Amino acid sequence: MTDTVLVTGAFGLVGSATVHRLAADGRRVVATDLDTPGNQKAAAALPVGVTVRWADLTDPSAVGALVADITPSAIIHLAAVIPPFIYQRRGLAEKVNVGATASLVAAAEKLPTPPRFVLASSIAVYGSRNPHTVSGVLTADTPVHPADIYGDHKVRAEALVRSSALDWVILRLGGVLTVNPGSYMKMDNFYFEGTLPTDGRLQTVDVRDVARAFAAATTADAVGETLLIGGDDHTHRLLQGDVAPAMAAALGLVGGLPTGLKGDPHDDAGWFNTDWMDTTRSQEVLDFQRHSWPQMLIETAANAGIKRPLLRLVAPLAKQVLQRRTAYYGTGQRYADPWQAIKAKWGDPRPDGSQA
Ligand SMILES: NC(=O)c1ccc[n+]([C@@H]2O[C@H](COP(=O)([O-])OP(=O)(O)OC[C@H]3O[C@@H](n4cnc5c(N)ncnc54)[C@H](O)[C@@H]3O)[C@@H](O)[C@H]2O)c1
Repeated sequence: MTDTVLVTGAFGLVGSATVHRLAADGRRVVATDLDTPGNQKAAAALPVGVTVRWADLTDPSAVGALVADITPSAIIHLAAVIPPFIYQRRGLAEKVNVGATASLVAAAEKLPTPPRFVLASSIAVYGSRNPHTVSGVLTADTPVHPADIYGDHKVRAEALVRSSALDWVILRLGGVLTVNPGSYMKMDNFYFEGTLPTDGRLQTVDVRDVARAFAAATTADAVGETLLIGGDDHTHRLLQGDVAPAMAAALGLVGGLPTGLKGDPHDDAGWFNTDWMDTTRSQEVLDFQRHSWPQMLIETAANAGIKRPLLRLVAPLAKQVLQRRTAYYGTGQRYADPWQAIKAKWGDPRPDGSQA
């Protein structure tokens, strides 16, 4: 065994930040992801101490060779197919989200000194959360009840890790945000967010703090624990409909996003799978919360720089254009119906057994 951390999904949102955090902490890192032109470009700019290994984790033999060659002391498993594209590619998504987790666990178990396994899970495991009828905030003990394939995949990946012979830590993430959101401002993401009830509860967290949590989880006294990763309770407990407009305004797009619909208070199944959470234990053991929500907005505005006044000018036009492309435009609907809207745009979101 070497003192090397293997990070999967290393070129994604969370992966990039995690690799940088580990390198800054002086850890040896092997970053693995799909060999794509975009990832090749990002690889050229990686910090010292980071090695790259390209692998498609849906290939069990590639996973076996990767883990056997590197003999890591810890694996941070982030690779996944996530919403909204997961609903379009459910077969592939299952292979990545569940199958690749099984291959990694099996390969890790074969090592003479097996590594610690840190799994990225999600609060999607808890399913729809109607803020009018749920009581309290999410804890690690709140029963899981996935409403979609994403939550279902995460429940199954967690079970694989829990029943393994490895030392493991599971991190269930809330809404991960970055102060450099430029590359995430895509029509699909706008459309997706526009389907979600504006009054759904979402605990956000800065990706740099998520990275700190993952890095800490490779060594912290947390083996066998499931920890909820969200930003501080005072500033990051937000409502869905407040998040994107505030981020957009910080970038200069003031009033540039259309307003969505609220959720139906009488339909418990008609809400998205996010909620506020209790981060007391995760913060105690991982000490990762550094960036408040207001700080994030200030940094986002600073990072936007000279684009801000330009975006401010186009905001009214942007709103008009985006308005016509929202899921509920012209439907006369009173309440948001996210699962139906997702089904119409990308495909049936429900887990296999529950499809009609
Ligand atoms: N972003 C969030 O708000 C959020 C919330 C809860 C949980 N999570 C979880 O955190 C983890 C990281 O999420 P993210 O936001 O960085 O996602 P992301 O989509 O930005 O990154 C995922 C990475 O996995 C890689 N990947 C996909 N298929 C692969 C394959 N077959 N082989 C190898 N690599 C493959 C992708 O290339 C990508 O770089 C995921 O497990 C996700 O489910 C994220």
